[in-house]
Amino acid sequence: PEPLKVLGKRKGLNVGNAIGGRHFRDPAYQALMARECNMLVAENEGKWQALEPQPGQYNFGPADEMYAWAKSQGMLIRGHNLIWQEAKWLPKWVNDYDFGAQPAKAAEALLRKHVTTVCDHFGDAIYSYDVVNEAVDQKTGELRKNVFTERLGAVPQMDLAFRLAHERAPKAELVYNDYMGPDAESAKHRAGVLKLLHDLKSRGTPIHALGLQSHIGSSDDLSTAARQREWRKFLDEVTGMGLGLLITEFDVNDRKLPVDIAKRDAGVAALAKDYLDVTLSYRQCRDFLLWGMTDDASWLQVWKEAKREDGAQMRPTPFDDQRRAKPLRDAIA
Ligand code: G3I
Repeated sequence: PEPLKVLGKRKGLNVGNAIGGRHFRDPAYQALMARECNMLVAENEGKWQALEPQPGQYNFGPADEMYAWAKSQGMLIRGHNLIWQEAKWLPKWVNDYDFGAQPAKAAEALLRKHVTTVCDHFGDAIYSYDVVNEAVDQKTGELRKNVFTERLGAVPQMDLAFRLAHERAPKAELVYNDYMGPDAESAKHRAGVLKLLHDLKSRGTPIHALGLQSHIGSSDDLSTAARQREWRKFLDEVTGMGLGLLITEFDVNDRKLPVDIAKRDAGVAALAKDYLDVTLSYRQCRDFLLWGMTDDASWLQVWKEAKREDGAQMRPTPFDDQRRAKPLRDAIA
């Protein structure tokens, strides 16, 4: 079959994948990714915690190595991410930071140092950055709090992060990335994201697109017109603000699908097809990235909350552990 990146190119779409350190060391996985993808994102190696595990002690090596490989393959690179808003994913030393007598000034200085150091290091290599990741609480739709939001205010802090990124990486596409989906339970999450995007746009923040993580599952079933309408309403509002769209972290959680592998894979493919038919119908959506290409590489295998009740291995990606194409690959194609 024709590689996904070739099919994508014909439609003006980039096809990418998130690669983690372990699979980066696997030549067969690398070859699969090089065959199918023209874009790379590092699964963890580009995060603040990975780049600066201790204050001032930078560890750019693992990300540099991945990006050099991507470049050698002619792939585009997405940076993920400059600021992960949820406190538990910020480096511990940031959460413990002593902001002193002028906390707003110190918070601004810390944010500035981080964004400028990272953007200056990677230079023009990064085509698109997730500047802010997951700022909206999925249950309440409110903005999450962290050491920066407490000292600068959440919207001004995010605005600052985007401005700094734009200053130091003027050619990069700047993205707000989150996991709100089309499911009914995500209504508040979607509303919170829309409010945030409106607030940023009305301040003139240099934000260019919304990253739709697209970790979909059975509750994101878009097989009915009514469900499609809800999702379109959201995407219409986002694109109506002049923002682009990207599918940044695609996979299909199969925990509610039958254990029988043929049935399960068919269910996964059907969910994907319906979701992608609607989402990729937007001309603003020009990037499609998988969050892992083979089932053994998926974060869902290790994420406790994702586990199937019957304990069967999850099958969320387009290729199985032997890198054989599954029905999901056909659905994406
Ligand atoms: O590398 C360390 C290892 O040295 C240590 O012994 C081990 C003990 O826990 O942890 C290893 O780090 C883990 C890392 O993945 C690498 O495998 C972390 O604990 C674990 O928390 C981390 O999980 C990642 C998670 O983000 C948190 O950063 C997942 O791999 C990654 O797939 C996931 O990706 C996120 C996106 O960034 C944002 N959107 C949601 C998506 C899925 O949760």
